This record gives sequence, C-alpha cells and structure tokens, in this order.
Amino acid sequence: MQKTELKKLLESMSLQEKIDQMLQLVGSFYSEDTDEVLTGPESELGITDEDVRMAGSIEGTYGAQYLMELQKSYMEKQPHHIPMLFMMDVIHGMKTIFPIPLGQAAAFEPELSKRCASAAAKEAAVSGLHVTFAPMVDLVRDARWGRVMESGGEDPFLSSRLAQAQVEGFQGKDMSEPYKVCACVKHFAGYGAAQAGREYHTVELSEHTLRDFYLPAYKAGIDAGSGMVMTAFNTLNGIPASTNKWLMRDVLRDEMGFDGVLVSDFSAIAETVVHGHSEDLKDAAKKALEAGVDIDMMSGAYAANLSTLVKEGAVDEAFIDESVMRILELKNKLGLFENPYKDADPEKEKTVILCDEHRQLAGEAAAKSFVLLKNEGVLPVDTSKKTAFIGPYTNNKEIKSSWAFIGDSQDCVTIEEAAREVFDLTRTTFHAGSPVLGNDDAQALKGFAEKLPDPVPEEMQLSMLKEAVQAAKEADTVIMPLGEYYLQSGEATSRAMLDIPDVQMRLFREVAKVNENIIVVLFNGRPLDLREISRKAKAVLEVWLPGTEGGHAIVDVLTGKVNPSGKLPMSFPYCVGQIPVHYNEYSTGRPYQPGMQARYLSKYLDIPNTPLYPFGYGMSYTDFEISPVTLSGETVTEKTSITAAVTVKNTGTLSGTQTLQLYIQDVSASVVRPVKELKGFQKTELAPGEEATVQFVIEEPMLRFLRADGTVGSEDGRFRLWIGDSSDTENAAGFMLKREM
Ligand code: BGC
Repeated sequence: MQKTELKKLLESMSLQEKIDQMLQLVGSFYSEDTDEVLTGPESELGITDEDVRMAGSIEGTYGAQYLMELQKSYMEKQPHHIPMLFMMDVIHGMKTIFPIPLGQAAAFEPELSKRCASAAAKEAAVSGLHVTFAPMVDLVRDARWGRVMESGGEDPFLSSRLAQAQVEGFQGKDMSEPYKVCACVKHFAGYGAAQAGREYHTVELSEHTLRDFYLPAYKAGIDAGSGMVMTAFNTLNGIPASTNKWLMRDVLRDEMGFDGVLVSDFSAIAETVVHGHSEDLKDAAKKALEAGVDIDMMSGAYAANLSTLVKEGAVDEAFIDESVMRILELKNKLGLFENPYKDADPEKEKTVILCDEHRQLAGEAAAKSFVLLKNEGVLPVDTSKKTAFIGPYTNNKEIKSSWAFIGDSQDCVTIEEAAREVFDLTRTTFHAGSPVLGNDDAQALKGFAEKLPDPVPEEMQLSMLKEAVQAAKEADTVIMPLGEYYLQSGEATSRAMLDIPDVQMRLFREVAKVNENIIVVLFNGRPLDLREISRKAKAVLEVWLPGTEGGHAIVDVLTGKVNPSGKLPMSFPYCVGQIPVHYNEYSTGRPYQPGMQARYLSKYLDIPNTPLYPFGYGMSYTDFEISPVTLSGETVTEKTSITAAVTVKNTGTLSGTQTLQLYIQDVSASVVRPVKELKGFQKTELAPGEEATVQFVIEEPMLRFLRADGTVGSEDGRFRLWIGDSSDTENAAGFMLKREM
C-alpha cells in the first residue's frame, strides 16, 4: 500500500478502532475456536470483550493453521479489514534451538548469529508469526542477573555487531520477503544494569556510561533497520523507561532516528504506577502515549483510558494517530495488506521445522560457541580409553534454555546419545551421579510455570553417588557434565551465589577424590564461580545451554573432531564479591598490579582484582604464536588511517581457529577512557605450521566518545593499541591522533 492510502485508511478509522490497534494481548485470551473470546483476566485489566476481539496484535501464540483461522475471523470483524500482527519471543530458535545468545556471542562470528536468526525466522514465519521479540541487546556486567544468557555480553562493540547481525538475519533486506519476520530490539534502555543484578531493579547510569557503553548496541540494531523496539521494565535515572519522554522521544526517535513501532514490555506501562511515577493507569497511559509508546503490551492502560483521555481533552489525538500510523506502516512493510497470512503454511511447517539444514546449523553454532577454559593435556579424549561420563547432564535433554519454550527438549540430543555413536561402548559408562538440583534448590524455583524435576529421596541420591564413585575409580578419564538447571537462568532468575548446585558439587568432590583426570563440561546461562572446579579438574569446557544439537557438538569437541575456538563474551568473576567485573573498566589513580607491596592501592585484601577468566579468553587444542604488532604509520588524522598488523602462526599439530582481537586505549582525555576497548576482531583458521597476517585499520571515527563538553568526537593525543588472543593481551603498540582544527 502507498503511504497516501495508509493515511486515508487512518483518517477513516474511529477513535476506538485506532486505540484497539495499540492494544496487544497474549494468545491465551483467544480460544482454539477463533470466534470465541475468553473472558476473565481481561476484566481485571479493564479490557472489554470487544477490545479483545479487536486488538491489533497478539503475542505468544503460533501455529500456521490456527493463526490463519484467527487472522481470517479477525479481519472479517475488523471494520476496515486490517490484518492482525502475530508476535512471539523467538530468541535463539523456534523449534530448532541454537545456543543461547551469550553462547552465540562466544563464537565471535556475527555472520553465524545472522544465519541462526535467519533459520529461526524461517521456522517462525511458516508457523504464522510476523514479529519476533528479539534480539535482546542489553549490555551486561553483572552475572547475578539471569538474563545475561540472552545478551551479547559485556562489550559494546561485540554486542553491536551481534545486534546488527541478528536484525539482518530476522528481517533480511525486506521483511515482506518470504520467511522473514520483523525484529524487535529490546529492552530500551539499560535493563542489563539492574542494581545488584536483581531482576527489574533500579538502573542508574551516568550519561557517559549510558552513551558510551549501553546505547551503542541498540543503535546498531536500529541502524540495521529493526522494525520494532521494546521498552524496558526498569527506571532509568529515576524515570521508568516506558514513560520516559526524554529517552523515547529525544534519544530513541530524534537522535537515533528510530521511526518504527515502539512496544512496551509486558505490563510495563501499568508498572509505572507501582514505580511511583504515574498516579494511576490513566496517568500511565497518558505518559506512555506522550513518550511515544505505540503498543501497550498487556497492561490494559491504553484500552481502558485513551478514549476518555482524548474526550476530556487531556491528550491530543494526534499522538494516537502518530502511533497507529506506525503500526499500519509496519503491517504494510510486512506485506500483510496484500497477504495477511504471510508465510503461514501448515505443509511447510512440517518440512522446514527441525529440517536437517537447521539441525546442522545448530550443531555448527553450538560447537563454535564452546569455550575451552582449561586443558592440562586431557583433551581431546582418546575414545578407546576407559571413560566414565558422570553428571546430571550426561543424559539430560533440558539443554535448550528457558527462553526456548517453543522448542521441545525431546528434540535435543544428549551427550550420552551422541557419545554412544563414537565411544568404545565396552569401555565407556554413563551415570547421572546426582540429580541436577538438590531438593532445596528445586524448591526455590517453585512458582515457575514449567515442570520442576521431581524430588529425589536422599537414599536414592546416595546410591547414585556410590555408583558414580565406583565408576570413577575404574575409569582412566572422567567426563563430568555439570551445571546450572536451565530454569536457573533467563527472566526472573537472579542469583546471589553463582555456584553449581550443591548436590552436584558433592558429586564432583567425591569423584575428584578417586580420579585425577576430570574433564568438566559446563552447562550454564551465565558466568559462574568456577574456582573449585577449575582448581581440581584437568580440563573445563564451557558449553552454555547449547540447544538441539548440543550433544553431538559436545562429543565432536571432546573427541577432537572439532577444535574449540570460542572466546568469553563476558568475564567469569573470581567470586561474586568482585561483581561487576568487566575488562573495559577505568584506571584508578592507584592501580594495583600483582606482586605490588604498597598498602594504599586499589585492590582487595582477599581476592585478586582480575576475573578468573577474562573477556575474550578461550583456548584451543593447538598453539598459536602471535608476532609483535607492526603499524603502517604513527599518526592517525581525520583523513588518514593506519593499519595495525600481526602475524599469527599455528605452532601446534592440529588445525585450529584463532580470534585476534584489537583493543585501543585513549591514554588521556577530557573524560577518562577505559583501560582497553575492543575495536575489532577477526577469526583465522590455520593448519599446523600455517601462518597468516591479520590487519586492522585504525580510523578516527573509532576513537570517538562522549567528551566532557557533551559532544561526541575524538581528542588528539596518545593512544595504545593491542592485538592478541584475549582482553589480557600485552601485545601493545602506540600511535597518535592529530586532527585538523
Ligand atoms: C520480557 C520480554 C518479552 C515479553 C513478551 C517480558 O516479560 O521482558 O523480553 O519479550 O515478556 O513475552
């Protein structure tokens, strides 16, 4: 449809019809019989049956046949036959589940994330969906927050590249094209900085921290063309994001140029009353509308109040027109006026979902997401040796995360299933050894909608333990798949202790008493406190929540069929007391280096300053030698760039991939700059003995930041740069920036 036609359509709509477009409800308001509307919860929200019938979008429901019927009956009733939008959280896969976003970030391969998003979009599109509430691009520095699993980690540069890649993967060049869905960058803004890592908690961010670290990834997603943005639950510097006019109008719309649809997070408009910012739902509706929030997800504030507010003259109907126009434009961009069913296709659902191609991609992505944290010569394993797999993740299908609720865990391949295909089964045994959660830990998850593991009586736990210890005694190597339960990460899963559940640690300690050759395979949605594990195990392989093909990918890496290449996208703290810990911190006036004896230095008495495993870190089964950095010149200007290069050589005996990372520091500036900032990365695959030169171009725009006078730009002076295999690299060089004045 042409813009003029959309305008005419808008002009012909009644006020009520327009307000209905701005209402989003969950699918459970609708029964399978598409003519029937469920009553109950809507009356509590002040939503009438008519609102439910006419809501412009629904979320959380899928299935080609069902959504086609729903669309048909909706359009018949809608006075202008405007199609409905179907949205859902397709975060890291629909039915084929890819590794969690934090795991994908560890692959340091935006193109891979793009391919995963594109495959997820295809499965979502044939299931009738038009929009996914992804990517989540909130920067994170606090592993206590459960949603770090959904993020790209602690670095703005990496997060931005991933945000862009995912938006491009979901939407393609044109979201009306077959198998594409609209992306929704979320949660604007700063949600990842919840105080003390407690879910939904207050966010206080200085202007330069917000702009230099937190905003870039949203901006990258918006620049990539994301059709939607979602507000955040939190207050930002005292004002709830969802009613924050400065944030939404000045920053998001005017500065960032976002002209798509802004949806509130679930019930977030109503929550501004609870925050103590809005007087009541009516006030909340007025504030959110004036801030430019186009769709009210599930709070009922708009449906119950916008009409009265307009009639009383308390809000200008022009705000409603503006929002509805954006919603109509999105429907138009998706091509829904021409084809309201878009890609919904019950037949294609059968062939596309979980197809071989998607499963293969899930396996590739999983293997690339794994990070080898430690290896004292025990990996890759020799499959002909006596091996005992001991741990509750040995044969556990719950490896897809709480944000993959459409996926069926029964479709996931476990380690045991995969290992049975390649290990010598006369010399390999498999044991759970313990439940994944102790009965108390399971109790803490009560209230979650999902089914919790059944309690295991203590005698049964003891007999599992006994069997496992016996197996460990008899084995040459013990592979221990341990970790967090999948419901311990995701939304509303903040944790103050970043431990592996006690019941598993008891197993680990008992096994460690009888066998020295332990390889821990770690399942988790967030960095954990790994001190004991990493001290006692000979190898630690971080596998996150790897998704559908997790088992195959793990066995491929354990056996050396695939050489691990992942790098940490988030620091693994030494212990919880160190949090927030991130590599791109500022220098204090009294920095501490290990070994320094002076008293008045910036340090802890009881733990190191540095994390256990830093950002960008990850080992390989082969060795790489990285040459000192060479520069093509000493001075960067606005017009001239320089290149920084290293030669990397595979000095080991296996092929492998190294990710070279470029870090830069502005040595002195009007506002202090981080000790290091990631500004580029490149993956290089090398055969044994092979070497390659890796170059990075250093240009003035990459040296910009929010200066003391409030403008964004670079400042002349000295810079350091490093190229290495992790954020703790010391492979440095220096250059100058000299701009023309
Ligand atoms: C989450 C969002 C999600 C929404 C809809 C909220 O609780 O914060 O990320 O998109 O629910 O499911």
